[in-house]
Amino acid sequence: MRHFLEIDDLSKPELDQVLHLASAASSPTVLANRAMALIFEKPSARTRNSMELAVVALGGHPVYINNEEIGLGKRETVADITRTMASFHAAIGARVFQHSMVEQMAAVNAVPVVNLLSDRGHPMQALADLLTIQQEFGKLRGCSVAYVGDANNVAFSLALAATLAGMEFRIASPAGYSFNEAALARISNVRKATQTLQIFDDPHQAVQGANVVYTDTWTSMGQETQAAQRRNDFAGFTVDAKLMSTAAHNSIFLHCLPAHRGEEVTDDVLDGAASRVWVQAANRMHAARGLLVWLLREANR
Ligand code: CP
Ligand code: NVA
Repeated sequence: MRHFLEIDDLSKPELDQVLHLASAASSPTVLANRAMALIFEKPSARTRNSMELAVVALGGHPVYINNEEIGLGKRETVADITRTMASFHAAIGARVFQHSMVEQMAAVNAVPVVNLLSDRGHPMQALADLLTIQQEFGKLRGCSVAYVGDANNVAFSLALAATLAGMEFRIASPAGYSFNEAALARISNVRKATQTLQIFDDPHQAVQGANVVYTDTWTSMGQETQAAQRRNDFAGFTVDAKLMSTAAHNSIFLHCLPAHRGEEVTDDVLDGAASRVWVQAANRMHAARGLLVWLLREANR
């Protein structure tokens, strides 16, 4: 049974296959007369909508489940809920606070489990990010991406995805907000000997000549009590027009969204000519189609 909890659950050929399936104009109806459970412990605009529409595009029926109703690990054990869902659904997607929650679901090994964002990673987002970069530059290998800000779930999956795809990955974060040792070790695992992972504390150094400039919120869901502290700590890490002007000539700006205008990014960058954030959001659905076709085919082998 294959699951998709993080980008490195895929080999490089499998990643290529998923991106190829995501780029196809239409998809085989691998979910015909079947359903997929989409469980959310946190709010979502893009992930819920893109997943629901992808399931429909594959001929299936999505069922949105708010965790307040099912009470993962509270009303019932995670394993019991997973077994119950597996008796109705061909696959389970879950957006969770603790990554161990999706690991527990996958451990049941009843149906494929997809991570729809955890405190550790956001691999469905990273697939859409690669798709967007590939559409823009016609390739991934050799392109450079500079991530400015918190080394959070989005940054981790992006780092794995970019590295696996043969891209150059750079990150600039304030002291205390960079990748921890475990994250670095895991990124190093997918790195080729010739590839470098560059870590900076100065956004200008990271962005210099980059093809893609990427940022995300300074305060992720679940960290709301730290918001004021983080706003202080991330001073100087706003992606603004001046910083963008140091990127490569034809560079693009990406953000997983939701954006906090005036904090991690200024209006003129988010709404500017280099911004591809709406294409990127739309690509969430295509990335989901590609991943689900691949995953369901693997499950039916
Ligand atoms: N980018 C993203 O995952 O957005 P949502 O939180 O709205 O799903
Ligand atoms: N890092 C953000 C991403 C939201 C899509 C969060 O976890 O809240």
